[in-house]
Amino acid sequence: MDNNELISQINVLKRQKNAVILAHYYQVPEVQDIADFIGDSLALAQYAEKTEADVIVLAGVYFMAETAKIINPKKKVLIPDPEAGCSLADSCNPKDFAGFKKKYPEAVVVSYVNTSAEIKALTDIVCTSSNAVKVVNSIPKGKQIIFAPDRNLGNYLSNVTGREMIIWDGACHVHEEFSLEKIVKLKDENEDARLICHPECKKPIQILSDFIGSTAAMLDYVQKSSHKKFIVATEPGILHQMQKSCPDKVLIPAPPIDSTCGCNDCKFMKLITLEKIYRSLKEDIFEVNIDNELADKARMSIERMLNLSK
Ligand code: 13P
Ligand code: SF4
Repeated sequence: MDNNELISQINVLKRQKNAVILAHYYQVPEVQDIADFIGDSLALAQYAEKTEADVIVLAGVYFMAETAKIINPKKKVLIPDPEAGCSLADSCNPKDFAGFKKKYPEAVVVSYVNTSAEIKALTDIVCTSSNAVKVVNSIPKGKQIIFAPDRNLGNYLSNVTGREMIIWDGACHVHEEFSLEKIVKLKDENEDARLICHPECKKPIQILSDFIGSTAAMLDYVQKSSHKKFIVATEPGILHQMQKSCPDKVLIPAPPIDSTCGCNDCKFMKLITLEKIYRSLKEDIFEVNIDNELADKARMSIERMLNLSK
């Protein structure tokens, strides 16, 4: 089937099954274009919470589908490729994290949404890059805070909020691969460009940046800015929506250390294709199922975040 045929078959199946397709900004352009909703991690969770569809197809990575299922236990949540994981979520395994947590029994545990359900079950309040500052600021002063799993986001939060935090030493392989030297060179060659980055980038890149924010916040910044040129330090999938909404702006993807590796593409996000979405809807695969007791524990920490973000 060619893409046009796939798109029309996907639309037929969506109507038949009362399904919605939710896509993250890092998805390939044709997947973003077929989605009913495109968003950052927070917006995807918020949409999943309120949708009236019977089936949610999550065109993103596994923790996003898992989060949608936890907050919607009665709905069918499908992920078109169950191998779509996340190196950051994988950098925090539940057994080690439980041991880490035990060392600080008084601490409030804040976990990034890029974690497994098991980690969320060990968490007091989840956050995304959109609401992390708000979440940390909601914790009473004087309380110890554990933050997991991203060390770059953790250090950023500690700087912005002035709170000391005990930070898990995890990272995203995509965001740690940007080359500081090449970005400095690009900035010199493009003095009129603004550098914008995701808080998962390393500290020196954050320091150089004119703006730091979630994928949705970066998109909003480009849309509202009077500047015309931007060096964008996050997964390049975001450029599709940026360019679509701002056709007159010049967007330069920030380069990785090794320019031949494509290491700033999230290989997990890129596993989702139109063909897999079609198969997912047709065969009801791959359904996300979570043990009830685990989901109940994880739901509390996600709901605290959603209530704080209304
Ligand atoms: P956002 O919540 O900013 O969309 O980020 C998700 C993510 O996985 C970044 O790598
Ligand atoms: Fe995970 Fe990094 Fe991919 Fe985001 S870009 S989904 S943090 S591996």
